[in-house]
Parts: sequence; C-alpha cells; structure tokens
Amino acid sequence: MTNEELVALALEARKKAYAPYSEHLVGAALLTKSGKVYTGCNVENAGFTPTNCAERTAVFKAVSEGEREFASIAVVGGKANADHLPICAPCGVCRQVLREFCDPKAFTVILGTDRPEEIRVMSLGDLLPLSFGPESLM
Ligand code: THU
Repeated sequence: MTNEELVALALEARKKAYAPYSEHLVGAALLTKSGKVYTGCNVENAGFTPTNCAERTAVFKAVSEGEREFASIAVVGGKANADHLPICAPCGVCRQVLREFCDPKAFTVILGTDRPEEIRVMSLGDLLPLSFGPESLM
C-alpha cells in the first residue's frame, strides 16, 4: 500500500463525514502492520462535545475489531465547499489516541490533500514530541 493509495482511501472516507455544524469534512485511513485498512470520518453532534474526529473513528473501529498494531495513517480534511483541500493535521486528542497504540518513531502520519502530489509525511513523534504513553505508567 503506497502513501498515495492510503490518501485516496482517506479521501473516499471523507465523503461519509457527518459535519453539519463545522462543515469541515475529514477522512482518515489507518493501515495495520498486517496490511489491512480501517477508514474513518468525523461524526459531529448537536451537543458539540460528543463529536468524534476521523482519526479516532478509524482507530476505534480497528481496535474494536481486535487490531492493535499499526503502521501509518493518512488524513485529509477541509471545508465542504473548498476548491482545494489544505493540509489538515490531526488534533491533539487524536495524536494522543494514536500514541496509545503506535510507536512515535516508527508510526507514519501522511497528510494528504485532493492533489496526489501534495503530501506531507512525518512520524507520530514529530507531531507529539516528549509524549506520555502506556510505558509512562509502568
Ligand atoms: N476534526 C477531525 O476529524 N480531525 C482532526 O484531527 C481535526 C478536527 C474534525 C472534528 C470536527 O468535526 C471538525 O473537524 C472541526 O473541528
């Protein structure tokens, strides 16, 4: 699975985003180490606080299916009426949720847009340095 293919799956997942309040539609595609992909979109709520981000939807889908070993995630997001999607970085809560299961050095975050050539690739550790994870409690 190439980074570009994973971004394409995130773009497909973005089409399912339920975001009537922000109109900021986000899609994510999470690749397991065994090669399976779990997608997710943001799901908003009239109460605002219960809103779930695309990345967390993907992680929770995967973990609830028994997956805990992840290689990378692709994320795409932007306004519903945008001509061109900007790079959309995961929020702090999603970074922390990824940190629970993913090695900050080895796990790759792929930030895509609607243009295949416009892509940024980094590690989870780049996005969440000096992080607090499961081993911090051992
Ligand atoms: N959102 C995501 O889905 N992922 C992020 O990492 C950033 C924010 C969603 C949540 C909400 O539905 C909308 O974008 C605006 O914050």
